[in-house]
Amino acid sequence: MTERPVHNHQYDVVIVGAGGAGMRAAIESGPRVRTAVLTKLYPTRSHTGAAQGGMCAALANVEEDNWEWHTFDTVKGGDYLVDQDAAEIMAKEAITAVIDLENMGLPFNRTPEGKIDQRRFGGHTRDHGKAPVRRACYAADRTGHMILQTLYQNCVKHDVEFFNEFYVLDVCITETEDGPVATGAVAYELATGDLHVFHSKAVVFATGGSGRMYKTTSNAHTLTGDGMAVVFRKGFPLEDMEFHQFHPTGLAGLGILISEAVRGEGGILRNVDGERFMERYAPTIKDLAPRDIVARSMVQEVREGRGAGPNKDYVYIDVTHLGEDVLNEKLPDITEFSRTYLGVDPVTELVPVFPTCHYVMGGIPTNVAGEVLRNADDVVPGMYAAGECACVSVHGSNRLGTNSLLDINVFGKRSGIAAAEFARTHDFVELPDTPEKMVAEWLDQMLSDHGNENAANIRFELQAMMDDKASVFRTEESLTEAREEIHKLKKRYNHVVVSDKGRRFNTELLEAIELGFLLELAEVTVIGALNREESRGGHAREDFQKRDDEKFMKHTMATKKDGLDLLSEIELTWKPVVQTRYEPMERKY
Ligand code: FUM
Repeated sequence: MTERPVHNHQYDVVIVGAGGAGMRAAIESGPRVRTAVLTKLYPTRSHTGAAQGGMCAALANVEEDNWEWHTFDTVKGGDYLVDQDAAEIMAKEAITAVIDLENMGLPFNRTPEGKIDQRRFGGHTRDHGKAPVRRACYAADRTGHMILQTLYQNCVKHDVEFFNEFYVLDVCITETEDGPVATGAVAYELATGDLHVFHSKAVVFATGGSGRMYKTTSNAHTLTGDGMAVVFRKGFPLEDMEFHQFHPTGLAGLGILISEAVRGEGGILRNVDGERFMERYAPTIKDLAPRDIVARSMVQEVREGRGAGPNKDYVYIDVTHLGEDVLNEKLPDITEFSRTYLGVDPVTELVPVFPTCHYVMGGIPTNVAGEVLRNADDVVPGMYAAGECACVSVHGSNRLGTNSLLDINVFGKRSGIAAAEFARTHDFVELPDTPEKMVAEWLDQMLSDHGNENAANIRFELQAMMDDKASVFRTEESLTEAREEIHKLKKRYNHVVVSDKGRRFNTELLEAIELGFLLELAEVTVIGALNREESRGGHAREDFQKRDDEKFMKHTMATKKDGLDLLSEIELTWKPVVQTRYEPMERKY
């Protein structure tokens, strides 16, 4: 084995990831116990910064609203796969979450009276679906950016210790009489190639999503599902991974996000004939229907020949009636994106758009305190997860816009408090023997000459194939082909060559590792989708077009037999959905 320096650290709490959820957790944990944040990016480059339109809370600042309507919308928007106890907590605590951010200094847009302004967003309604409601608090179309900066500044204020450009490649699990306990993490330092073992009482995963398994995505290059894959490889389950969300308005051909706030402010989707087609699909709330419905409607328009452009493969978002002042004041970034990337000026022209992979509703299963579940009932003591990498499950099978920035704040805070409390009341448990061994051997294997495959080629083929076979609509045939393709790609991946053998800033090595994570998670996504023979939320099976509550009102739990073998079998089990007050109904908008 290659000699590779190993450094040892000890902290009460280790947080993996410095996006919104990780930093919100750190703001709670940092002042309570010794906390380290390990992050593969500089914190202010995290993908939270790309979130645009808003963070919802029933503040009722501009019109009547309450947290119960918010809960109902979340449950119905998620097509009843939402755990309703968790959704209630999120909607209730949303109000404090916004006030917390305001107190930390976040510059929200204001009403003329000085209150936090609120705008409309898809699926958020007044009185159980009667009309759209203004529930999203926002900072122009840079809400995520402002949240990220505000949280970072507050972490600095609390002297949180960051380890930047540290890639966590393994979680340490110690087997005890009472079962597995999380005891730390192993990280690879990008600048030096050294390994770092962090011994801790609690580990919080907040590593974001996995949208980069698709070619057309609003996700940053870094969203490769690292935390989910690390936990999955350790033999713990992932929940509901078949539910990836396709945001309706990606810039056509590019996938770059054009915020739903555009429709919240009055933007209208039109087909090639100029028709406002959402009136046919969602007569009550039209363009402000939840994302799954709007995305399917757009694809349907294109399939039926009403798409625009040379290939008739996109529709338009029309904001020409809003006026330049509104665009400049409330939607400056997306105005600029349209000009820069498509050469289209939204002030006077229609903007070409098509659905783009935006979010994964599934992830590492947790309870409402952020504790990670190792099966339907039992937690892994000391292990927590929050944000997009986690599945609480507050989004069910389809997340409502602006519930993600909310989720990271509510459950980031909760997991930070819970992890710190756990650390305060528990002693360190010993690490397993040579905790860095698996990672060191893995890196050696990746750097050895064992084939001639190219990671970039495999990644490109995976992404194009997922766009083709596991996107807005799926069938048994397309998913079976996807599974077979993934198997072939996994076999080829075992022969990937990393040509840079160096220690310093070896981004080629890390991109190859990230590709392994994506392949792993793509297979979980496809297997879950194949098995779920119904259509629900973001999972639309053309061969099973109805929701089937009898058979599938339950969460998918996917577990791997042998975590270190990329080709080892994935087993599916189920977890019940928590229902409190809302009976599943037909979803009409
Ligand atoms: O459309 C948007 O601004 C995205 C918001 C979200 O995903 O919550």
